[in-house]
Amino acid sequence: MSSLFSPFQLKDARLRNRIAVPPMCQYQAVDGFVTDWHLPHYAGMARGGAGLVIVEATAVSADGRISPGCLGLWRDEHQTGLAQLAAAIKSAGAVPGIQIGHAGRKASARRPWEGDDHIAEGDPSGWATISPSALAFGGGLSRVPREMTLDDIARVQGDFVSAAQRALAAGFEWLELHFAHGYLAQSFLSVHANQRSDAYGGSADHRGRFLRECLEAVRKVWPERLPLTARLGVIEYDGRDEETLSEAITLVRQLRASGLDLLNVSMGFSTPEARIPWGPALLAPVAQRVRREAELPVAASWGIDAPELAERMVAEGMMDLVMVGRAHLANPHWPYATAMALGVTDAPWLLPASYAHWLARYRPAAG
Ligand SMILES: Cc1cc2nc3c(=O)[nH]c(=O)nc-3n(C[C@H](O)[C@H](O)[C@H](O)COP(=O)(O)O)c2cc1C
Repeated sequence: MSSLFSPFQLKDARLRNRIAVPPMCQYQAVDGFVTDWHLPHYAGMARGGAGLVIVEATAVSADGRISPGCLGLWRDEHQTGLAQLAAAIKSAGAVPGIQIGHAGRKASARRPWEGDDHIAEGDPSGWATISPSALAFGGGLSRVPREMTLDDIARVQGDFVSAAQRALAAGFEWLELHFAHGYLAQSFLSVHANQRSDAYGGSADHRGRFLRECLEAVRKVWPERLPLTARLGVIEYDGRDEETLSEAITLVRQLRASGLDLLNVSMGFSTPEARIPWGPALLAPVAQRVRREAELPVAASWGIDAPELAERMVAEGMMDLVMVGRAHLANPHWPYATAMALGVTDAPWLLPASYAHWLARYRPAAG
């Protein structure tokens, strides 16, 4: 019996298995709108068998886009295209999820293949950025953001709420708040980006305030019956990892008390100085620790793309869901291929099921 292919229930969301597609920017939107690229992309991955498909980072405001090609939810009109994505994912048997966020000081960037750096100051395709403090990220992301006022903070939190309402109206059944990867929310938490001396900076408790308030505000409009999740960078690989991790776990416990249902455990990416020890399932021990100490279901990604490894992640209690990113881009039918590799043939979602059974009969004998 495979653990990876066992169902997972979180509130009213029932995932047919433990495989999720994490949010992955496609850089194909125009003015935040879905284009012809997105529907086959997301429908294809849902048909491939994943239990959950999370639509890429979708900006809560125009200035919160990472790049000009990012999706948005700052206007009601954005809902129509996203509703088509949610419907297509759902009709292919996966739970439709979406990640909403604000890119903060990393906004106004060129697409990765154009350089992954900031659009030059003065270029009209770029825009002014905001962050907790007027500190640039560094490297190619050298644009200096404006320090946010308390009004800015309230405005962005309101934008998160409005975007969540639109995501719900569009038919999404799983919401992920983007609190990771050096974007706005992570920048509030990180000492690398936050040098404020007001109630939103200084102590770990103060640095977590923006995130707590955001989650609390969204929880009021996101129905109790549907999972409200977040992606958080709980480690920076900057030499102060134990401190960062234990601060993050305290915050996650607070978020759980305010209605967080699951954490997508990730890295902070708050400084170009990070030294990340890349390797397979790099975050698995960190995810397991968050799961145990914050007493919350967790998901994680980063280098979990081999069938046996993914199976082990769930079987050994490292995480509740395995997020498989780049392997899904390479093969949208990764879950199907993984089921074959693990000898799982009885999952009703293997489409078309009769074909899967037929194939199973003709697997070459081991050895
Ligand atoms: C093309 C691409 C776009 C990405 N966009 C996002 C995003 O929108 N939001 C996010 O939280 N992570 C994003 N990520 C990170 C992925 O969600 C995932 O964590 C990462 O690819 C590591 O998982 P993997 O080793 O299975 O690929 C992106 C990754 C890729 C490759």
